[in-house]
Amino acid sequence: MTPKEQITELRTVLHKHNYNYYVKHNPEISDFEFDKLLKQLQDLEQQYPEYYDPNSPTQRVGSDLSSDFTQEVHEYPMLSLANSYSKEDLQEFDARIRKILGDRPFIYTCELKYDGVSISLQYKNGKLTRALTRGNGIQGDNITNNAKTIKTIPLQLHGNFPNELEIRGEVVMPRAGFNALNEERIEQGEQPFANPRNAASGSLKLLNSREVARRPLQANMYYIPSETPTDSHFENLELARSWGFNVPELSEQCKNIDEVYAFINKWDTKRKDLPFDTDGIVIKVDSISLQEELGMTAKTPRWAIAFKFKAEQARTRLISVDFQVGRQGTITPVANLEPVLLAGTIIKRASLYNADQMKELDIRINDYVFIEKGGEIIPKVVSVDTAARDEHSKPLQFITHCPECGAELIRMEDEANYYCPNSKHCPPQIKGKIEHFVGREAMNIALAGATIEQLYNAGLLNNAADFYTLTYNDVIHLDRFAEKSAKNLIDSIQESKSVPFHRVLYAIGIRHIGKASAKVLANKFHTIDAIQNASLEELQETEDVGEIIAESIKQFFADDDNRAFIQKLKDNGVQFEVKEKAAASSTVLEGKTIVISGTFRDHSRDEMKDLIEANGGKNVSGVSKSTTYLLAGEGIGPSKLEKAQTFGVQIISEDEFYAMIGQQSSEDTHPTSENKKPTSGEQQLSLF
Ligand code: IVH
Repeated sequence: MTPKEQITELRTVLHKHNYNYYVKHNPEISDFEFDKLLKQLQDLEQQYPEYYDPNSPTQRVGSDLSSDFTQEVHEYPMLSLANSYSKEDLQEFDARIRKILGDRPFIYTCELKYDGVSISLQYKNGKLTRALTRGNGIQGDNITNNAKTIKTIPLQLHGNFPNELEIRGEVVMPRAGFNALNEERIEQGEQPFANPRNAASGSLKLLNSREVARRPLQANMYYIPSETPTDSHFENLELARSWGFNVPELSEQCKNIDEVYAFINKWDTKRKDLPFDTDGIVIKVDSISLQEELGMTAKTPRWAIAFKFKAEQARTRLISVDFQVGRQGTITPVANLEPVLLAGTIIKRASLYNADQMKELDIRINDYVFIEKGGEIIPKVVSVDTAARDEHSKPLQFITHCPECGAELIRMEDEANYYCPNSKHCPPQIKGKIEHFVGREAMNIALAGATIEQLYNAGLLNNAADFYTLTYNDVIHLDRFAEKSAKNLIDSIQESKSVPFHRVLYAIGIRHIGKASAKVLANKFHTIDAIQNASLEELQETEDVGEIIAESIKQFFADDDNRAFIQKLKDNGVQFEVKEKAAASSTVLEGKTIVISGTFRDHSRDEMKDLIEANGGKNVSGVSKSTTYLLAGEGIGPSKLEKAQTFGVQIISEDEFYAMIGQQSSEDTHPTSENKKPTSGEQQLSLF
């Protein structure tokens, strides 16, 4: 692979994992592995700056924007922390600080790193006025109504609080409440949450705040970005406790890295006795004025660092290996294990990832293996206890044929995975594609995985286009369908016909086309026919579309069945072109200069420029002191942001901009109604 290809691949993989983590609340790899891949990409990008991409996963802090809440710009950007894993890493962190601060004395505050979802709360005159999620760090979802249901979040402060306050913390779900919630979900036939963090994150994104109120959530506060009463971070948080916030009494002030390390060692074991999950320690320079002096890098503060605990391991025996087939035909080997207790749950299965990993582990039936949980649903096998191996055991062979349909497996050059090439007739691939199609960010058809299985088995659904010829009479006779549920399904299918083209393009499941590339392609080509007829070169000239995606598009349309699939969707009224919005025109932006940065949900950057001009404003490229607004999209450039802050330029979000010019946003035209998908924040669809 050339460095360029390597960079592209790493970006694709990391985007996928970012999405799994932040949007699906369903990560597939551990933070440690994620950080390793990110580091690889950072190194390559540094080595080959010519492949710079403002939307690279290295350029952003992650995104959990959901389409159901309005997005608002954070008053203070919500950055994340750099990670460390060893005492040496901490010593380097300490040395960097000492180099900047010289002889000036300082101390650290050490805190637990709560494993949940971060939240930023704003208080005016002691009243809670706004609660935002982190989102992409620049703008987050307004979840005030949900936050208000969390008992540890004060609605009215008491004592001697500042009139203007922004305070941050982590919303967690204590383990006891998590276990009870999961038991209830299993009883009701719902999918249990993989871990308390996913449960907290899914709960905060529920559209029905009454339902949120029933979730056992707790907010632990840890940071005040607005002006504080004292120069000590530790003391400010003590004061915050006196204003009504939940600040766990677990922090300590430490004079040096040895004391920090003692704190880490203490909590590495003791944390298991805490009622909620923690995944590390956060070390902060205690003095606010020194924090200010140390400042930030583009993504993380220089005055703080996270220390990540090593994941817990357990040892058990391998009984057998299953081979699972994914939506794109990827074969994943899964180990069946003798049940073992790991970090509070009994584990019977663990991932073996792919053929390469199996070979590298040289894993054999009856081997003793070590497993580790990394936040994903199923843990993974990390090593084999070869010393305890039966000397007569034989290496395991990877399968040669698909366990579901019998087709001979293939393996692409340079790829670690085997595929089942029988994409059109292999049942898990067909069902997986349909599940992807109905997903909330795709066609948003209200349908559970089990119902897809049922419709498929009944012969009513052979591909997603069959939805559009499905009738009330077809489904009403099926088990588990009643008048209301049958009507809801048919209504939901009808409603999906108004889903905008870019989401349709994502839904049809062309290999390698994610949400972002679908949007870029839709904005550039406007219709599916134009995409189908575009040459490989034209496709590749599109922002973010490389050789792999372009070839995958060509391959998709070269297939007769795929073209027939699209034709059937078209004939049934699914959107295959961008709907032109009537160009609004007004003078509301007269005299205003606006800089745009990042990418936007509803419009391309060029369209945003046109909108600014159509409403009397002026679009300029650089932020200066005469700029009126910085219009912030996703993946906004850090230097623009910094300048905006320096010059005191007001930062506005996409939705705020539409409100200014009186245009409806896609959020207004395609609301996700709450009764349609009450658990939309928790869906566990396999999108990749
Ligand atoms: S301080 C600018 N303190 O960890 C400093 N973060 O990887 C802001 N977290 O986004 C963060 N416990 O969601 C801080 N005691 C703690 C924390 C904590 C958990 C989370 C937080 C943050 C992430 C950074």
